[in-house]
Amino acid sequence: MYNFDEIVDRKNALYSYSSKWAKNGFALSCFGEDCIPDDVIALHVADMDFKCAPVIKEAIMNVAEHGIYGYSVPSDDYYDAIKKWYLDRYELDINDYHIYHSHGTHKAIEEAVKRVTSVGDKVIVLLPSYSYHRDIDNIGRIMLGIKMHNDNGNYTIDFDEFEEACKEAKAFVLCNPQNPTGKIFSDDELIKMAYVCRFHHVVIISDEVHGDIVRSNKEFKPLVKVVGPKGIITCNGINKTFNLAGLASTYFLIKDNKLSKLYEEYHSNASPFEIAATIACYNKASDWVDELNKYLDLEIEEVVNFIHEKMPKAIVKKPEGTYILWIDFSKYGLTDAELHDVIYKEAHVIAQAGSHFDDNDQFQRFCIASPKKMVMEAFDRIAKAINSRK
Ligand SMILES: Cc1ncc(COP(=O)(O)O)c(C=O)c1O
Repeated sequence: MYNFDEIVDRKNALYSYSSKWAKNGFALSCFGEDCIPDDVIALHVADMDFKCAPVIKEAIMNVAEHGIYGYSVPSDDYYDAIKKWYLDRYELDINDYHIYHSHGTHKAIEEAVKRVTSVGDKVIVLLPSYSYHRDIDNIGRIMLGIKMHNDNGNYTIDFDEFEEACKEAKAFVLCNPQNPTGKIFSDDELIKMAYVCRFHHVVIISDEVHGDIVRSNKEFKPLVKVVGPKGIITCNGINKTFNLAGLASTYFLIKDNKLSKLYEEYHSNASPFEIAATIACYNKASDWVDELNKYLDLEIEEVVNFIHEKMPKAIVKKPEGTYILWIDFSKYGLTDAELHDVIYKEAHVIAQAGSHFDDNDQFQRFCIASPKKMVMEAFDRIAKAINSRK
């Protein structure tokens, strides 16, 4: 019913303002002034090149039609829509949770870290990791990175090391499904993490913004569903699931009274556009998410098979959740600079280098929620470029 194959111009369209495709954005730093190739394919940003569900556009148009866009406050419908989503998707009743609006996930995480820690405190993050350092280091806390063990693309946690870190930390930012590895933590892993964190009084800030984007044979469960709400702040939003990052509309959930007390003075302005969009997303667009997941299932299958066949030295696993491919190119034996040239200068593809997530540029992250034709073209070019180096 929805056309995820449609190629939508985000590069030159007047009202796009897409940072991913902008000539003055990241592309400029990759290629230099006046050197951005016309046929560049941008796969470095975690947003999608798919139009959002028509019911969401309609909700936004209704607000636009009203003509006054003043200070706004979420209506009961907003909270009811979030509760309905959790009940329908996750069989989780969050009626007795506090729901707080946030202007983006970064903001929610930064606010949470600020409230549950003090300046100089340590905050655990599992590596490789999405860039939480700016939500932690920028406010005077110290990020304590714990490297997950990587066995050919399968990532696991060393719980002894995790427990040692918990002895000196005050908070843990968990990313589940995990960006960049695409891992969904098992119930067993979540139970162990929560047990250790509770024992050492470490608050878990669980970033679940990719939770609705899951392969059909996998399951994501909100952390609170698996281990209960004690000591947990959950961050979620419509940004990733419904491709609305530009609206910067997220929220967080807390049931634990000790933690919700820390938010007594909290205030966040929601725009009328995001309030209307959230209501439409959660009440009317679940079929769009289901179709999106089916499209991504097939696309990921095809792209990963292509990589295995044409670039057999690249190590990549099908992500369990997210639309992110985390590829290890180290077996090609190229230097970081040579690999960069292959992907960026020769294939004209923009990825995000591994050092943004840990310390190794032989890994590259590709966000592939774009029409399949475009993504296959990108990997075809990379395969040709890398194979010509042999
Ligand atoms: C795991 C994760 N958390 C947070 C963010 C940032 O989200 P926001 O734009 O809502 O701040 C991203 C964006 O890519 C992400 O992947």
